Amino acid sequence: MYLCVCKAVSERTARRAVESGEVATMRDLCRQHGVGSCCGKCVPDARALIEQTLSAVPTTSDAVRWSNAAQPQRARQVV
Ligand code: FES
Repeated sequence: MYLCVCKAVSERTARRAVESGEVATMRDLCRQHGVGSCCGKCVPDARALIEQTLSAVPTTSDAVRWSNAAQPQRARQVV
């Protein structure tokens, strides 16, 4: 489904841009893909998609936490 009809940017494209780290703000999405640069009707939905996707993407500290949590299990398996 299109997130931005004017620029033909799909929700999938926008979500992937956020997940890849290419986009973190509405300004980034506008600069990279033109979302919100015509009529602007898509801006509220685009902002919501960015916030929702950023909250779902694991942060670096989450990755470190998961990595540290997994190490004792690996050590036990080796012994
Ligand atoms: S729908 Fe995105 S600028 Fe018009």
